[in-house]
Amino acid sequence: MCAMSTNSKSEKPNGAKLLEGKPFPVSKDCAGFKGVGQFKKDPLKFYRNNQLKHGNYVCNPTMFGYEFYTLYHPNAVEHVLQTHQKNYHKPDVFLKPASLLFGNGIFTSEGDFWMKQRRLSQPAFHRDHIGRMAGVIVECVEKMLARWDAKPDGSQIDLQHEMVYLTLSVAGRTLFSTDLTDHATDVGSAVREGFEVLNHRMNNFPFVLPMWLPTRDNRQFKQAKSVLDSVISKIIADRKSSSEQHHDFLGMLMAARDEDTGLGMSDAQLKDEVLTLLVAGHDTVAACLAWTWISLSQNPKIRSQMHDEHKSVLSGRNPQLADTQGLTYTRMIIDESLRLYPPAWGLPRQSFEEDVIDGYLLPKDAFISLNQFTTHRLPEFWDKPEEFHPERFLPENIKNRPRFAYFPFGAGSRVCIGQNLALLEAQLAIATIAQRYEIDLLPGQNIEPDPTFTLIPKGIVTAAIKRRK
Ligand code: HEM
Repeated sequence: MCAMSTNSKSEKPNGAKLLEGKPFPVSKDCAGFKGVGQFKKDPLKFYRNNQLKHGNYVCNPTMFGYEFYTLYHPNAVEHVLQTHQKNYHKPDVFLKPASLLFGNGIFTSEGDFWMKQRRLSQPAFHRDHIGRMAGVIVECVEKMLARWDAKPDGSQIDLQHEMVYLTLSVAGRTLFSTDLTDHATDVGSAVREGFEVLNHRMNNFPFVLPMWLPTRDNRQFKQAKSVLDSVISKIIADRKSSSEQHHDFLGMLMAARDEDTGLGMSDAQLKDEVLTLLVAGHDTVAACLAWTWISLSQNPKIRSQMHDEHKSVLSGRNPQLADTQGLTYTRMIIDESLRLYPPAWGLPRQSFEEDVIDGYLLPKDAFISLNQFTTHRLPEFWDKPEEFHPERFLPENIKNRPRFAYFPFGAGSRVCIGQNLALLEAQLAIATIAQRYEIDLLPGQNIEPDPTFTLIPKGIVTAAIKRRK
């Protein structure tokens, strides 16, 4: 248990070089049934308190000899994700449950196989290719706005649901040239139900019941997975039977050939990759947009400054790719939204070998938790961290912070492959929608984050959509 807390010098029986480092401070906050129960009940609160009480490097014993290390400092983020990334992998506690949903796609694979899949997929996410998607993204926003236009002014919407509708339609069109809007409700709910079960299995790993047992959770999961599988199978089958040439992500994935073998992806692999992109590609962006509208509604001065930017850059017309350069304040708003409410709010890793991180000695096979939600709020790097201030992302302010104090898209070789697409989509969607509608939260709602897998607003957030003159 947290062996390094009593012995700061590692001992290697084979006589290899000894590593020396400080012991990790030990926290008992997650120890025993009570501690684990509190962790599961409110993990965001656990991580925040854990850092406040014990600092940026903590060893947390739990039960049955399990322990995990929480690393909040930007130096640790840089070390684990970038400079020493070869010593860290995604642990089974994450991979086993996540693979139930995502299969063996790029998000849930490791080692040589992951590298091969990443190499095959990378060209589809090249900046030039993403840039060509701008028109399609704005068309999808227009389609959503046409629905809003048909409603009486001031109508109420379920904010998260509308953003899922939008991002699924963008994912369908940009990734697979398919209109998925008819499936928005089914796919959106299946993803949420799938995430709930994954979250439960991750929190209770390895003490989880086998999937073949017909428990309520397992049945719910199978139902959700079969909805997603049938949508994916249809996307692939339609494409295979089509004689048209498509220059979208699916077309690129199907045409991709392994450099060494000359072979393309198997059907099963293609299905896993398509499902991964569909889920990873819409749920996170929907969360980012929902949080951005929430923050704008809560900060009217910032919203009005954003309107000024839209007026001066766009004068009422829809944005195009070239306009994104000028929409700098809009981009800063998105960056700030991803700081306070990072959709991917924590990254699990495990060490292969012992290591020294920022002077602390970490054992071999240690479970590590990096936590965007907490690092993005460290007062050492973020003044008044709970407040929404897009100016933090002015170039002169970025320069004065360690780079890894902010990592909403991860870092290193496993950095989010869809980062450019996500940011382009968010910028275009916000500029298009905000010129036409004011989105105001209905008063009296207590808005809290729900960390079940992606960080989304808890429950239903209701907003009124008012047409702008
Ligand atoms: C605001 C939106 C998004 C956020 C915050 C986000 C965040 C992340 C993060 C933090 C990772 C790294 C996970 C890790 O290292 O453990 C990641 C990986 C990934 N993301 Fe995103 N993502 C977003 C949008 C997208 C989009 C639009 C797509 C695809 C269309 C996408 C596809 C992926 C994939 C495939 C991976 C795995 C990459 C690999 O392991 O090589 N993401 N994302």
